[in-house]
Amino acid sequence: MEVKTSLLDNMIGVGDMVLLEPLSEDSFLENLKKRFDHNEIYTYIGSVVISMNPYRSLPIYSPEKVEEYRNRNFYELSPHIYALADEAYRSLRDQDKDQCILITGESGSGKTEASKLVMSYVAAVCGKGQEVNKVKEQLLQSNPVLEAFGNAKTVRNDNSSRFGKYMDIEFDFKGDPLGGVISNYLLEKSRVVKQPRGERNFHIFYQLLSGASDDTLKKLKLDRDFSKYNYLSLDSAVVNGLDDATSFRTVKNAMQIVGFMEDEIRSVLELVAAVLKLGNIEFKPESRCNDTDESRVRDKNDLKEMCELLGIEQTVLERAFSYRTVEAKLEKVSTTLNVAQAYYARDALAKNLYSRLFSWLVTRINESIKAQTKSRHKVMGVLDIYGFEIFEKADNSFEQFIINYCNEKLQQIFIELTLREEQEEYIREGIEWTNIEYFNNAVICDLIENNQNGIMAMLDEECLRPGTVTDETFLDKLNTVCAEHQHFESRLSKNSKFLNDHSLPHSCFRIQHYAGKVLYCVEGFVDKNNDLLYRDLSQAMFKATHSLMKELFPEGNPSKVNLKRPPTAGSQFKSSVGTLMKNLQTKNPNYIRCIKPNDKKAAHIFTASLVCHQVRYLGLMENVRVRRAGYAFRQPYGPCLERYKMLCKRTWPHWRGPAREGVEVLMADLQVPTEEFSYGRSKIFIRNPRTLFFLEERRRQCLQDLATLIQKIYRGWKCRTHFLLLKKSQVVVAAWYRRYAQQKKYQRIKSATTVVQSYARGWQARKLLRELKHQKRCEEAVTTIAAYWHGTQARTELRRLKQEVRNKHAVTVIWAYWQGTQARRELRRLKEEARNKRAVSVIWAGWQGTKARRELRKLKEEARRKHAVAVIWACWQGLKVRREYRKFFRANAGKKIYNFTIQRIMQKYFLGVKSGLPSMSPVDKNWPARPYRFLDAAHAQLRSIFHLWRCKKYRSQFSQERKAVYQEKLEASELFKDKKSLYPSSVSQPFKGDYLEISKNPKYQKLNSCVEEKVLLADVVNKINRANGKGASRILLLTKKNVVLADQKTGQVKASVALPDLISVSVSTQNDGFFALKLKEGSASAVKGDFLLSSEHLIETITKLHHIGSTASDDGEQLDINISDEFLVQFKQDKVCVKFIQAAPKNGNSASCKRKNNRLLEVSVPAATA
Ligand SMILES: Nc1ncnc2c1ncn2[C@@H]1O[C@H](COP(=O)(O)OP(=O)(O)OP(=O)(O)O)[C@@H](O)[C@H]1O
Ligand SMILES: [Mg+2]
Repeated sequence: MEVKTSLLDNMIGVGDMVLLEPLSEDSFLENLKKRFDHNEIYTYIGSVVISMNPYRSLPIYSPEKVEEYRNRNFYELSPHIYALADEAYRSLRDQDKDQCILITGESGSGKTEASKLVMSYVAAVCGKGQEVNKVKEQLLQSNPVLEAFGNAKTVRNDNSSRFGKYMDIEFDFKGDPLGGVISNYLLEKSRVVKQPRGERNFHIFYQLLSGASDDTLKKLKLDRDFSKYNYLSLDSAVVNGLDDATSFRTVKNAMQIVGFMEDEIRSVLELVAAVLKLGNIEFKPESRCNDTDESRVRDKNDLKEMCELLGIEQTVLERAFSYRTVEAKLEKVSTTLNVAQAYYARDALAKNLYSRLFSWLVTRINESIKAQTKSRHKVMGVLDIYGFEIFEKADNSFEQFIINYCNEKLQQIFIELTLREEQEEYIREGIEWTNIEYFNNAVICDLIENNQNGIMAMLDEECLRPGTVTDETFLDKLNTVCAEHQHFESRLSKNSKFLNDHSLPHSCFRIQHYAGKVLYCVEGFVDKNNDLLYRDLSQAMFKATHSLMKELFPEGNPSKVNLKRPPTAGSQFKSSVGTLMKNLQTKNPNYIRCIKPNDKKAAHIFTASLVCHQVRYLGLMENVRVRRAGYAFRQPYGPCLERYKMLCKRTWPHWRGPAREGVEVLMADLQVPTEEFSYGRSKIFIRNPRTLFFLEERRRQCLQDLATLIQKIYRGWKCRTHFLLLKKSQVVVAAWYRRYAQQKKYQRIKSATTVVQSYARGWQARKLLRELKHQKRCEEAVTTIAAYWHGTQARTELRRLKQEVRNKHAVTVIWAYWQGTQARRELRRLKEEARNKRAVSVIWAGWQGTKARRELRKLKEEARRKHAVAVIWACWQGLKVRREYRKFFRANAGKKIYNFTIQRIMQKYFLGVKSGLPSMSPVDKNWPARPYRFLDAAHAQLRSIFHLWRCKKYRSQFSQERKAVYQEKLEASELFKDKKSLYPSSVSQPFKGDYLEISKNPKYQKLNSCVEEKVLLADVVNKINRANGKGASRILLLTKKNVVLADQKTGQVKASVALPDLISVSVSTQNDGFFALKLKEGSASAVKGDFLLSSEHLIETITKLHHIGSTASDDGEQLDINISDEFLVQFKQDKVCVKFIQAAPKNGNSASCKRKNNRLLEVSVPAATA
């Protein structure tokens, strides 16, 4: 879930000064200090950002911070410069509103750093891609270049910008950067020749001397030792924390990224070296016969070296330092210069040279970074301009006057736009507008810029007036014209008020600026406004062979002598400020007000008096008052309800209706007086910060209660969840334990049962055994008893029978017994006999069985033996056969079969190839597939043989003409294949040569008759104009001896070049038809210089030229064809570099050509589309 935060959360002090309560200067400063002490360097006044310079790096500019502020509401997070940059970028991208970011503050307050932070933020959040990244890189890298040439160490700031800068960054409809335009304002050029104590010259001088290689310095005729140069003050040449040598490499690298060519960088450094040399030129007086002193150069060595460096004739420059020519309409008067005037002229030249070089750099950077497309752009302007400057005593001069005028204008636009914005918001939201009282500084602007009686107009009038003009006459004029003005103060003015004001010296005037009173000393006003450079010097500079130097002094051109005075420095500045103001008024403004916490450039120090001074002159208190005049605080209904909904039961925890109604219910419930707020269309407006703090306080209390409630519910929930978990665990544990216990019990019962069973069974078995034993014993006893009893009975009977024998039946009984005994005995005998008979038959049967089995075993044994014999026989036979086979078959027949098989395969393969042969066309790529891998080599060989044979057949059909055509194509291939992208598309086009049918077409009869030789090529080409790069149609004729260019309409010959005069032809590697014909220097054809042409049949034209050129040359030397994307051509006196660049296709698909400057002609070739 996204956490909704607000500016009001975790505030240190007050994040938005509009909410400061009570509002006073002291509370304002205290709030700033409190925030500064806690590293909160940014504070808002509504949408204006106050930035305190921390003088140390804080971890608040990381990529994570960029992500944090990206696409967030302005007031959502704690104040940051990224919030402002994000707001500006998003309203530019999403609402199509052009933006400007105005960064002001005094020197060293962090304006330049702030502008870089804004640019780097925008670069980080806008689109990506190769082209976009290149544009971004170029825009960002323009900073180090301008800082090297336009920044210097001052007592206030080690990297002080000594010029004003306004940069328009242009975006397309998606918000991707397309390019930019930089405007520079008033470089402090006096620094070039003199620097105040503790300060130094522009960085580039020191960077060049420290960082350039020995070789470069030698070429520039410079020495590494700073002390050798008069223009470099020595007391602070080395700055802590600045590494000039490394910076020099950074600057060179940045220049390359921005698009400076090597020779341009060299030229720039030569001019920097020239300024240093110029400072070393010294003069001595030489008496003349008429008692006047004339200056002479003292030591000519530096002068000589400077002249060599720039290609100026030494005597010309020497004369310009000794004489001055004044030209009127009809006459020329030459006067001598004394030593002081010579020094003045030297310094004026150095200052002009450097400031013009700086303006040239800005123009050159603009050329590189300008947007390529002409479609409408969205624009974000960043203005980093010098803040209000008030020096102590009367040190304020012309420069401070100009700077302070610019700040007056900015303040005016600030008031105007802030009020307008406030008013627009009220109208947009349907809130009644309350008039706001504020100080309008238009009256001060009028005092300075009024065309009739403004200070600037007076100064210009004085500068242009004939007669003696001095700073004093200018002050006199002011004293009469401006005396009545309420913001102008002067000791000698008609206004006697200041007659006794000793703080106001006689040579000064004072202006009451909106930011305070400033005392200006008039000394130097006239000179600085005139900004004169003697014409002799500008003419000497124009005569230089150094092309950049020549370009910087166009007024020195004797053919363009302009007797009109150039516009004064003041009027130039006034008009450029006017343009800037108009530009800013069309854009949505965003303000960054930079404040410097101390004068020591040190971290953690907050000097209240210094900050107070800045707060006053930046008009910050006024800013807060304007902002609070209507409603101090406003917030959209949604976020407002979200923040305060807990203060009312009806809106807490959820409000289902529209947010506005929710806020209405909330405010009614809280009983906030109705005059304290108003409902706008989308926002609620709160009049007094007290009301907001009341809401915040209630919210804070409510949040504590809510926190307790949440804690309570959370703790309850946590305990309950824990308890339920314990309960659930206990049931599981109990179930497992019960199962375990029952299992144990069952096992115990089971083993006990087994034991009991075994005992019972044992007891039963023993009991049975006892019974059986007793029964057996009983049976034995019965038998014994029966035997005894029968014996007794028999003995008794015997005794009785014996008795009977004695008696009558004794014999019968005995007989019967005896018969019985006899019968039993017989029975026993018969039984025995029967038993014996059965036993005999059983034994017989057993014996028969044994015999039969024995017989069976014998038979089986025999059968097995027979089978084994048969198997062994068969094995033996097999063995014998195999031995035979090995002997006869493998040794002889195997080889034959192998050969036979191979022959068969080869035969099949050849027949297959024969039937599948491709057509006789040499471009036919078909070839039957190979059936076996081992045939790979032979197959490839066959294919090549077949192809060579087929080609030979094809060639044998050629006629002589076709052969020549193919030879030409072959030559074209050797020249261009893999070297020029255009070549592949030309292969399929036949070389026709005479495209215009020159001999047949009656229109060209006259032209044809002018050419003696046979025309080998006649075609229409485009001849590029050497001055502007535009093309004109021409007929190009090529014969064995000449290249002729003729007018396409009239057929009149414009140029004819004998082929021996042609030394080389240059073309690019790309897909274009441009070619340059380079001519022998001094030859008749080379008067106007080389030709740059473009042809649709470039490949054919160059091939023919190369072919004929080689045969036409007397010494058989080949005509040189040079293929490269950058080559030099000679146009009249200029050596011009023709550079081919890839560009996005536009105006169809043809290449376009543009003369950039006198050394560069750029050909844009549309990038090939896939
Ligand atoms: N946000 C910042 N974080 C850290 N250091 C800063 C910051 N802003 C400024 N500084 C420090 O302050 C120095 C001066 O800042 P900067 O050059 O931007 O001042 P400036 O307002 O442009 O002054 P000038 O008007 O002289 O050009 C910087 O070199 C840097 O050391
Ligand atoms: Mg700066």
